[in-house]
Amino acid sequence: MRQALTYTETHFDRFVDELVDFLKIPSVSTDPDHAGDVQAAAEWLATHLRSLGMQKVDVMPTAGYPVVYAEHIVDPSKPTILVYGHYDVQPPDPLDLWDSAPFNPVVKNGDLYARGSCDDKGQLFMHVKAAESFFKGSGTLPLNVKYIFEGEEEVGSANLPIFMKANKELLKADVAVVSDTALFGDGVPSITYGLRGLAYVEVMLEGPDRDLHSGVYGGAIENPINALASMIAALHDDQHRVTIDGFYDNVLPLTAEERSTFASLPFNADEWVHDVGANQPRTEEGYSVLEGTTARPTLDCNGIWGGFTGKGAKTVLPARAHAKISCRLVPNQTPDEITAKLKAHFEKHVPPTMRLTFTNLHGGFGALVDTKSDAMMAASEAMEGVFGQKPYMVRSGGSIPVVSDFKKILGQETVLMGFGLDSDAIHSPNEKFGLDRFRQGIDSIIRFMEIYAQK
Ligand code: BES
Ligand code: MN
Ligand code: MN
Repeated sequence: MRQALTYTETHFDRFVDELVDFLKIPSVSTDPDHAGDVQAAAEWLATHLRSLGMQKVDVMPTAGYPVVYAEHIVDPSKPTILVYGHYDVQPPDPLDLWDSAPFNPVVKNGDLYARGSCDDKGQLFMHVKAAESFFKGSGTLPLNVKYIFEGEEEVGSANLPIFMKANKELLKADVAVVSDTALFGDGVPSITYGLRGLAYVEVMLEGPDRDLHSGVYGGAIENPINALASMIAALHDDQHRVTIDGFYDNVLPLTAEERSTFASLPFNADEWVHDVGANQPRTEEGYSVLEGTTARPTLDCNGIWGGFTGKGAKTVLPARAHAKISCRLVPNQTPDEITAKLKAHFEKHVPPTMRLTFTNLHGGFGALVDTKSDAMMAASEAMEGVFGQKPYMVRSGGSIPVVSDFKKILGQETVLMGFGLDSDAIHSPNEKFGLDRFRQGIDSIIRFMEIYAQK
């Protein structure tokens, strides 16, 4: 292990240069114009893995973007880890809010700025560099490794469960390891044991069959924007609870132990609110900010449009109004259940003056992983070795649907060892990844591999 850590130390600047090359590929999975770039990122990664001397590296096709699969089996009697990451990225828009070009990575004050630097190219690359450090520093790996890197995470991973079902034997491992989450704070180590799920829908209300003069018709023809706005406003009550029938039916309640752990975390809600420029938090009554953002389900309108939004004023009574709405789910809510309940709610409450179109966009399950597994203990010990303090066990509000699939399809537990920060601005302009955290991540993974090999 020492040799591997020393190898990272010695070659760290080159590791950063290589990551910069990877980040230059604009692998935006949601944009068909970037299809060639997403493919190129897969090829780049495969070529890189081959250059390290992995026994097997394949770019495996799916109905969408390929899975980059690699493995190195040193001794079948040793434990095997399955590392997951995603090489696709979010669109960089709005471009004018970036201080430097999103696909022209630059280092400023020790942070590497680029789309995907933290989510998730930088974090998946830590695993690649940890393996290289063992290969080149120690001559071999302490355990067996398998890698699956997908190119459709940011668009819902529709093809990954199919791939996993078709390749169960290939993907067989003792535990899955994912670096696609955040640390609790800068220099504050944490391991994530909970993720939220997602149910994402779009609704449209139609009233008249064309846009109308609001003076001639206003007062007797219902305005779809007014109607949709009322429906959206009614989705929460005055205690900020979601009003959809049965929304909370399957929510796994927080245990007293979890609540006291949440309360003991080094978290300052005032600072946190201040950081995003908001005045004060607004949580579901009876829950703290941390509980609200990680362990309670939510409903948010993500976009709303219709009518006249150009410059100046136009007196129009529009024919249609649209909204995108998503719910973050907690165990044991399911995306299908919540989508059905949302649909029933909209169908029941749509005014008789309106026609409703309801579309399911995508969804994913939340997850809670075993906090006491051997792999979890190894990850904790590894991070303690790097940060000098035991990591906190935390839940995260984001979604990584594959984690529930590791359990359901492959029967594997997952360890979420992530090194981002909330302030890394993932999905936002000026996404960054601190080079110190890139380093801490590689070192933690090296230590994890060594410690877990001995469990
Ligand atoms: N890496 C994120 C998820 C994440 C972010 C987990 C922060 C923990 C902390 C992932 O790439 C992502 O953005 N997931 C999407 C869901 C997906 C189904 C589109 C999300 O959470 O919105
Ligand atoms: Mn991610
Ligand atoms: Mn993401």
